[in-house]
Amino acid sequence: MAPTYAQRFAEAASDPAAFWLKAAEDIEWAIKPSTALDESRAPIYAWFPDGTLNVCRNALDRHVAAGRGESTALIYDSAVLNIQERYSYNQLLAKVELFAGVLRDAGIGVGDRVLIYLPMIPQAHIAMLACARIGAVHTVVFGGFAPKELASRIDDAAPLAILTATGGIEPSRRIEYLPAVDEAINLASHKVPTVIVAHRDGFAHELSDYGSTETTWQDWDELVAVATPAAAVAVPATHPLYILYTSGTTGAPKGVVRDSGGYAVAMDYSMTNIYGVGPGSTMLTASDVGWVVGHSYIVYGPLIAGATTVLYEGKPVGTPDAGAFWRLIQDHQVDTFFTAPTALRAIRKADPEAELLEGYDISSLKNFFVAGERLDPDTYHWAGAKLGVPVVDNWWQTETGWPIASSPVGIENMILKAGSPSVPVPGYDVRILDGLGEAVPAGEEGNIAIKLPLPPGTLATLWGNDQRFIETYLQHFPGHYATGDSGYLDEDGYLFVMGRTDDVINVSGHRLSTGAMEQVLGSHQAVAECAVIGVADELKGQRPSGYVVLKSGVQISEEVLAKELVSMVRAHIGPVADFREVRIVAALPKTRSGKILRKTMRQIADGKPYTVPSTIEDPNVIDELLPFLRPTR
Ligand code: COA
Ligand code: AMP
Repeated sequence: MAPTYAQRFAEAASDPAAFWLKAAEDIEWAIKPSTALDESRAPIYAWFPDGTLNVCRNALDRHVAAGRGESTALIYDSAVLNIQERYSYNQLLAKVELFAGVLRDAGIGVGDRVLIYLPMIPQAHIAMLACARIGAVHTVVFGGFAPKELASRIDDAAPLAILTATGGIEPSRRIEYLPAVDEAINLASHKVPTVIVAHRDGFAHELSDYGSTETTWQDWDELVAVATPAAAVAVPATHPLYILYTSGTTGAPKGVVRDSGGYAVAMDYSMTNIYGVGPGSTMLTASDVGWVVGHSYIVYGPLIAGATTVLYEGKPVGTPDAGAFWRLIQDHQVDTFFTAPTALRAIRKADPEAELLEGYDISSLKNFFVAGERLDPDTYHWAGAKLGVPVVDNWWQTETGWPIASSPVGIENMILKAGSPSVPVPGYDVRILDGLGEAVPAGEEGNIAIKLPLPPGTLATLWGNDQRFIETYLQHFPGHYATGDSGYLDEDGYLFVMGRTDDVINVSGHRLSTGAMEQVLGSHQAVAECAVIGVADELKGQRPSGYVVLKSGVQISEEVLAKELVSMVRAHIGPVADFREVRIVAALPKTRSGKILRKTMRQIADGKPYTVPSTIEDPNVIDELLPFLRPTR
């Protein structure tokens, strides 16, 4: 009889070393690990310390060597350009080998950083895998971020090269990348020697417009035309594969470091056991390579599993309509689809009865996964009824790299409960703790923590900052990783994730820091103090809402100030922040020690019962604020 989820979970819990060494057998190693876990630097752990491998070999060469070179590795489907391209494993490997040769010839080697700022085009896969092939550490930055955010990542990662394209295509406009990259390079203190640009037709700016004594700008295709292939370099399992920046409570983004060996094992394990994906499967993850979901399930996961991955350049609605996903499933015979709940809500808003489904044959579809934000029960029921397949919510974070909780459909299809991402995945020992770190009973909400060590593939540290890693995640509840989420486990062991305990918000499944937005608002000359909170939004899950107190004597209308602040946030953080709402208020509610009561403000704005802490400095401020804490759009 096939093992059950409960058996697998118990095996991983009782002997994690044996469990993960066994899982590691499915990966190709240059030197097989003999030890599962290095605990000598606890609470910082390292998986497979004596193993060496190459992640790109595992994603490409291995499948070619196994005689599967003619299978399709990648399908590029651009709804904005109306084109489709297919790459077999042989073809993708050839492109990656050559581009790895380009990087090698640019003097990039093991451990050097490469920043990738690319839209959803095949060069994104090629760039990431080419870095992995030569042991370079990539850091991908989402195209919706502004030059200032790009500059802060350039300074933190100190890359030897930036890989970019002439632009990205949003349904409503073309986004010129080259001026943004140039501005970021000029803003950053670190000097980037090389920029390599993939040409796309239809953009105003050309490569020849750029270049300085410090930075050489080169054409992607011209370099590839004269390159020779680069071989895969075996690196230690603990060698960083990538850095992925994510928002924290403060404005300074955190560089999550992913190792090579643990991640390869986790990708392989999750593909088989959580997603039920392997050779012969076709997976489409509608997200962006700039997010963790894109790293794991557009690029590395499906390719390590030997499956076909579909790279979709387009939106759930508007390219051309709310039937886009159904068209993709039909055209590419997709069996495993993955996106954010926001995308489903956008489709439902545009096509409430899913009438567009009638025009497509989606019988290839087996499972529809969602992650990135809470899947509200209403959307869950709607999607399940319309699609006729399990709609599986998974909960995880940039930090973990793969799901912490999910129905592991490759092991067992659990009964799904609306509002819950089901059960902790084998390897994750999820605990609900009160503020003092004591476990709370089933059904009671508390801080969601994970007992250390975390399983393979989760964050190794923060780039160049072990101390920040420990302080941010490992000190709150000694012996545990603090997820920053709050929730509860029910009597059946199902997890319910209720929201963040910090000032991180989730807008359309995009993780953003309200602290970073406050920094921008606070820099306006009229603003004395401010608070940005995430308020519930029917479509986007949450939206940022700003409240500002003017400096005394300043005369400015709310309309004018709002316009200025909105454009400042757009310029400093980027359009992805989706910041549009500003109210001028007389005062902000604070504790006597000066802490702004953001949680109370959020509860009021969401129309929830709210508590005013006894430590409040002036209770009247809340009464005065009530009329302003109403949604304005
Ligand atoms: N490059 C540049 N700008 C981008 C961008 C990119 N890659 N992605 C988004 N933006 C811009 C948009 O053009 C928009 O700009 P605007 O203010 O000028 O209109 C702004 O950022 C906000 O974009 P978005 O969050 O996409 O909102 P939207 O209203 O355009 O679309 C959805 C709403 C629901 C269709 C969209 O958010 C979506 O597809 N969500 C899926 C969620 C997802 O993939 N999450 C990733 C984690 S799994
Ligand atoms: P990110 O790092 O961008 O993946 O965002 C991680 C955060 O998004 C988590 O800490 C949660 O707050 C939220 N999140 C992600 N997936 C889910 C989910 N399935 N249910 C509830 N919240 C989620």
